Amino acid sequence: MKGQSRIFSGIRPSGDLHIGNYLGAIKQWIKLQDSHEIIAGIVDLHAITTPHEPEKLRRATLETAMVYLAAGLDPNKVTLMVQSHVPAHTELAWILGTMTPLGELERMTQFKEKGREAAARQGIMAGLLNYPVLMAADILLYQTAVVPVGEDQEQHVELARSIAERFNNKYGETFTVPAVQLQKESARIMSLTDPEKKMSKSDESAKSAIMLADEPGAIREKIKSAVTDSGKEIRYDPDAKPAVSNLLVIFSELSGRPIKELEESYNGKAYAEFKSDLAEAVIEGLKPLQAKLTELRENEQAVLTILRDGSEKAAAIANKTLASVREKIGFL
Ligand code: TYM
Repeated sequence: MKGQSRIFSGIRPSGDLHIGNYLGAIKQWIKLQDSHEIIAGIVDLHAITTPHEPEKLRRATLETAMVYLAAGLDPNKVTLMVQSHVPAHTELAWILGTMTPLGELERMTQFKEKGREAAARQGIMAGLLNYPVLMAADILLYQTAVVPVGEDQEQHVELARSIAERFNNKYGETFTVPAVQLQKESARIMSLTDPEKKMSKSDESAKSAIMLADEPGAIREKIKSAVTDSGKEIRYDPDAKPAVSNLLVIFSELSGRPIKELEESYNGKAYAEFKSDLAEAVIEGLKPLQAKLTELRENEQAVLTILRDGSEKAAAIANKTLASVREKIGFL
């Protein structure tokens, strides 16, 4: 029997997914799918807040759904939906935007980071600023209790909490106030080329991220060239040894071997041997997901049906919340 608490989380189909998306987010959802009602979104409205190509977006939307399924989300337990297929998201985002102070949006870390990149290219669009309001709408529409995400999204979930509280105070209990949930070590998987930066879909260095669909050769190559820290020891110490600690987390998460055990077994050994074993562990760890992904690509129609059914199911829940919001704010 599933508990009462509902979960919403999502990923932007703005490129291929990497192991950070898997270890920080998707893996949590899989663990929670037997005990919670989960709605897993493919948030295409968020994907268009940065420059995109239409054909690539369509393909990435489908691929993201396939990764969800290949990673182990069971469509009989989890609702897979496409954000733009449920118009309630945009309507609630508009309403919430009218109640969100500009200053709160301007101080969002992701806006500041992405805004800097955008300013250098085409200028900053209003959609980028409003991104966290849309994210709040995603979460609040489903009366979400828990939002399992990576650490970079924590601030956005905090904002969704304050938006919910503000609305509830003004109009009476309407939204569940959501809590963020992070995976301990893997909440922030770092770039392989710069351990001060998170692993990201949009990094200009192709070697910084291991993509979930990477071939063994590419994985070996990327791990071989991953930066390490000064000193020879292989131990988990994110402050003193950020690069090696990141590699240990990836190793542990994809092999199921605890970090302590890895530290012991590589005590006194060279980085080269550690990296070579790590590459094999990543290849093995991703094998089942990749095999399933290949199968799913042969059967796109079935995936489209899952998304259509899921979006319909999601819309039924979302529309109920939206109807109550419309009533409370005084729409005729
Ligand atoms: P996005 O698409 O950037 O990332 C998807 C998920 O992957 C996590 N993640 C990471 N976790 C660990 N280490 C990393 N290096 C790493 N990179 C990404 C993210 O934290 C996220 O959980 N705004 C969101 C999508 C979104 C959403 C929502 C999430 C839209 N609406 C409602 C939750 C609830 C985003 O851009 O994620």
